[in-house]
Amino acid sequence: MQVLIYPSYEALSVAAAEVIAEVVATKPDAVLGLATGSTPRALYKELIRMHKDEGLDFSHVRTFNLDEYVGLTAEHDQSYHYFMHENLFKHINVNPQNIHIPSGTTHNYPAFCQWYEDRIEECGGIDVQLLGIGSDGHIAFNEPGSSLGSRTRIKTLAEQTIDDNARFFKSKDDVPIYAITMGVGTILEADKLVLLASGDGKAKAIADAIEGPISAMCTASSLQLHPDSLFFIDGAAAGNLEMRSYYEWIQAKMPGAPHPD
Ligand code: GLP
Repeated sequence: MQVLIYPSYEALSVAAAEVIAEVVATKPDAVLGLATGSTPRALYKELIRMHKDEGLDFSHVRTFNLDEYVGLTAEHDQSYHYFMHENLFKHINVNPQNIHIPSGTTHNYPAFCQWYEDRIEECGGIDVQLLGIGSDGHIAFNEPGSSLGSRTRIKTLAEQTIDDNARFFKSKDDVPIYAITMGVGTILEADKLVLLASGDGKAKAIADAIEGPISAMCTASSLQLHPDSLFFIDGAAAGNLEMRSYYEWIQAKMPGAPHPD
């Protein structure tokens, strides 16, 4: 695990975007695992900038999103389909046929979930998976109690997540109760994991994920099992880390490591 602490949300986003861009530059048909939520927005902005200013080419890239709300159509302005189109896809040269996002409106969820898993495998697996973290320590929609070996499936949202995400909807009652999500086991199979967190609302979840026991109660703690997981966080999100000064020491000494300056 690498814990990389940056002075601001913008700085961590730019540094994490460089990791994604490096994967795309070295493997033009890379398989990117993508995330939604407010946290990855600035990273997507930076990838768009790199595409427009530096010619970063997404034409052969394949993408798989982590999750989608059950019951929302792709046109719904709070669906993750809509989010991805607005915040990334419509601004870059990704081939629409190479985009995969779980369907929130399929009539056969088990079959769809199996197809999604098979499709990831057919594409050779995910090269780099972007992640946010919920305030209860979830990754994608793998709420507390999710098996660390879980695969893509339907998941019932925790009340904490419904409260957190209510800000995006007209009212709490409009937040869907179910989501379709890659499982923790699915996520852990990606070659590289890049988790972003910003703000003191994430400080507890980040400390539990990095320094707590590996537990289904904080599914982000499963990243401790992964050989190449990177945490890009700001000072506020790092606020509860007991070993913070050690992580900063490693970051400062690491040759070629992304650095706050
Ligand atoms: C949702 C998403 C997660 C995301 C989390 C945090 O629950 N399913 O993938 O990490 O929200 O979102 P935010 O970045 O807005 O705090």
